[in-house]
Amino acid sequence: MNGMDEREEARSRIREAAEQEETFLRLVASGRLRGERPPWTKVVVRPVALKGGRRMQFSYFDGRKDITKNYRPDEARERLEEVLSMPFRQFHMQSTAGDLYVRVTKKGKVSVARTGPSRHETEPSLVHDRQKLSVLPVDKSDAFLHKLGLTDESGRPRRATYAKFRQINEFLRLLLQVFPLDELSGQTVNIVDCGCGNASLTFAAYHYLANIEGIRTMVTGIDANEEIICGCRELRDDLGWEGVDFQVAKIIDFVPAATPDLVLSLHACDTATDEAIAQGILWGSRAILAAPCCQHELHSKLAAPSFRPVLRHGILKQRTADILTDALRASVLRIMGYRTDVVEFVSPEHTSKNLMIRAKKGLKPGHKASVQEYEELKAFWGVGPCIEKLLGDRIARYLSQ
Ligand SMILES: C[S@@+](CC[C@H](N)C(=O)[O-])C[C@H]1O[C@@H](n2cnc3c(N)ncnc32)[C@H](O)[C@@H]1O
Repeated sequence: MNGMDEREEARSRIREAAEQEETFLRLVASGRLRGERPPWTKVVVRPVALKGGRRMQFSYFDGRKDITKNYRPDEARERLEEVLSMPFRQFHMQSTAGDLYVRVTKKGKVSVARTGPSRHETEPSLVHDRQKLSVLPVDKSDAFLHKLGLTDESGRPRRATYAKFRQINEFLRLLLQVFPLDELSGQTVNIVDCGCGNASLTFAAYHYLANIEGIRTMVTGIDANEEIICGCRELRDDLGWEGVDFQVAKIIDFVPAATPDLVLSLHACDTATDEAIAQGILWGSRAILAAPCCQHELHSKLAAPSFRPVLRHGILKQRTADILTDALRASVLRIMGYRTDVVEFVSPEHTSKNLMIRAKKGLKPGHKASVQEYEELKAFWGVGPCIEKLLGDRIARYLSQ
């Protein structure tokens, strides 16, 4: 068989697999053939269930924006043909029965490989927004995104600020995982955004919950920088969003008007993240989402002789301090009664500050095993973290030392 025939043969196997409703999970087309430039860097195809019935969802990526469209089966066949005829170097088809890899080598040879299933689903999951790519609409001009410099006149994300746009979307997506919409509706949701800066997250959280989902929402952005807060208030007045408030305050000094359901903090500097987490706990917030930034606090205090080979190197010492700081924060949250995990919320290509500490109330505070592991970790490193000092008696009552 020559290269063209092999390629046609591979395409027909992909077509066949995509038609199998009971088994087809996903197709990813990516890479580019030598000397060619497909219109997208990647296309992902997967089945989804919508009100009108089963659809094929096509997500197109070009490294800058994501476009997602859902097609009826007859339209989907045409769209699939389009994708199969684009000069992609590889196609990875996943089904419950197994995977199919089609690759075109630099010399134009086609290799087809079959393996066992790489996804562990027993049947296709048709949940529509499982992989929704952008929580905020990308093809619609929202005034606040434009005014914050995140989108152009036509509502498309700007290249220069795309990383920020992405961070906000991912932050909102994780927020929705912690608080599914049905847990939020029917009440006023109070949110405090600590160290809000120019308030892109503050406005985005409000916009998504209040304007898009129709949930009664009050968001307060707080920042120690008065000038920044003046700018935020101007934009809020321009937008006429009465549910958004801004206050000049240090996070640790702020007193909210109502108990916040959610405390957010996106890249508040250094120990400002500890202030946000501590306040979230002290205010009795139902959930806390904090993406830390520049954890300097423990850097000069690390004392663990057996780690000398690590701590000798500046960058390794910094990363060790970062990891330890966030692990201790997560441990403190667990001791204080929050189910907590630490997740990557954007890919490291967008920012190295890409961890998020997610915590939701629901455990009995002072759990012995959590206290013990926290104390052992502190003792090993010879450190006393800021977050513990900020919580004072509220945590001391659970600790043995
Ligand atoms: C890196 S900016 C992040 C802003 C915004 N959250 C974002 O991600 O775009 C950090 C902000 O936190 C504010 N900040 C730092 N420490 C603070 C503190 N202890 N109390 C209140 N604001 C603080 C700074 O003034 C700054 O605006």
